Amino acid sequence: MSEPTSYRILFAASEAYPLIKTGGLGDVAGSLPRALLGLKQDVRLILPAYADVQARAGRLRTVAEFTLRHHAVRLLAGNLPGTRVPVWLVDCPELFDRPGNPYLEPEGNPWPDNALRYTLFAEAVVQVAGDQLGLDWQPDVVHCNDWQTGLIPALLARQVPRPATVFTIHNLAYQGMFPYQTFQDLGLSPELWHPDALEYHGQLSFIKGGLVFADQINTVSPSYAREIQTPKFGYGLDGLLRHRHAALSGILNGIDTKEWNPGTDSFLAETYNRRSLADKAVNKSALQHNLGLDTDPDTLLIGFVGRLVDQKGVDILLDGMKEILSLPVQLAMLGSGEAQFEAALLKTAEQYPKRVAVKIGYSESLAHQIEAGADVFLMPSRFEPCGLNQLYSMRYGTPPVVRSVGGLADTVIDATEANLSAKTTTGFAFRGDQGSDLYKALARASRLYQDKAKWKSIQLTGMGHDFSWQNSAQEYLILYKAAIREIPTA
Ligand code: ADP
Ligand code: GLC
Repeated sequence: MSEPTSYRILFAASEAYPLIKTGGLGDVAGSLPRALLGLKQDVRLILPAYADVQARAGRLRTVAEFTLRHHAVRLLAGNLPGTRVPVWLVDCPELFDRPGNPYLEPEGNPWPDNALRYTLFAEAVVQVAGDQLGLDWQPDVVHCNDWQTGLIPALLARQVPRPATVFTIHNLAYQGMFPYQTFQDLGLSPELWHPDALEYHGQLSFIKGGLVFADQINTVSPSYAREIQTPKFGYGLDGLLRHRHAALSGILNGIDTKEWNPGTDSFLAETYNRRSLADKAVNKSALQHNLGLDTDPDTLLIGFVGRLVDQKGVDILLDGMKEILSLPVQLAMLGSGEAQFEAALLKTAEQYPKRVAVKIGYSESLAHQIEAGADVFLMPSRFEPCGLNQLYSMRYGTPPVVRSVGGLADTVIDATEANLSAKTTTGFAFRGDQGSDLYKALARASRLYQDKAKWKSIQLTGMGHDFSWQNSAQEYLILYKAAIREIPTA
């Protein structure tokens, strides 16, 4: 059989940078489609038209008007800003025309109608996938991402003919669970209320739509693909994932190498590359100055950017804080999340104003400045499907200090004696989940930091790695091919 040179791919996601982003999913949905386009694929991105997305999208055309669940819906067409990736936006003002975080009300609770919002989004995607809106385009494969898109494979599975479906798990901890009443209120087909469908112990589980019905499932690193098949990391879904293991794989995320490039990054005090690595120091002193830290070039500056939630191991850091601060180090942190973690970190910053700086909030510019200005980048995650910040930090000559799980274990090469002699080290990895385990890793980093030649070699090794989408986007093409093979021919 001859291979099609190009697939038509409908990439469905609930966020995509630079239109809207709350975390790594936004980065991936903003960069993988572009990489696929670079591989000459006919890829289109489809997202809900949240208020911020409409504001940032530039010129949009209305390409279809229809009604779903008694709501007037428009499909708007444009491009992902700064790229040639075509974007379709599902515009249903009653459900999506809300500013700020796409999933949460301003008070921080999930929008009470999230189940309806992402059901309507899924139904709109199904209409596009079936070319029912007169767009004269039909995908070979619909690529779904996380629970917000979980119903799409479930709804498509009932159609003949249909496109193939791929479901990517970016984070199994978020499952889109709702009471049975919601299932009834949504009026979904009664056949879907079954343990082999959307029911999960008496509740409605959106993610199960993807896990049960997608032709191929993948997650964002090979290690996480193995881990989620165990009770420890499976969040109650490990049995189902073991059952589907033949269709489950892991593909490491790539990064947007234009967005995250220390040589051209306009957020930095001074750009630098492998040849001008000494200029990185300018970013360190600017960061120390801006955050009110002592501007000492020789103190190891530890950076952190991320959601302040259990996943990211904030409690491990807090547990080890006292011991860690007995080392000659400073800490620069940016993030937001659980109130208890925010409060505990702010308290530490108050106690050590010249050594610990904590910014609560979201800032694209400060995130880049920490990647560039810090000496090491901290990710003590309890679990990490892939993690992007450690990839950014290696590219910025800022060796990551990571807990050896998931994508962190797959991407960071620890400074063991053997790796140091072979010059393959790119960072520091530790096992265990006590503050003292993290402390020991940071103590190793702090000692090595004194050896300028060895340190530079670690930086250059990380900076020399190729973290682009090139390889992983090719792996997605193989996955699409496998998914297409699964569809029954009508
Ligand atoms: P996750 O998706 O679990 O949050 P990742 O490491 O995959 O973790 O991706 C997180 C992304 O979100 C990175 O691009 C990171 O820089 C960004 N990010 C997280 N928190 C913040 C913040 N407070 N301000 C700016 N960017 C942030
Ligand atoms: C998730 C994960 C993170 C991953 C990102 C993008 O939010 O927590 O590890 O890098 O998705 O795939």
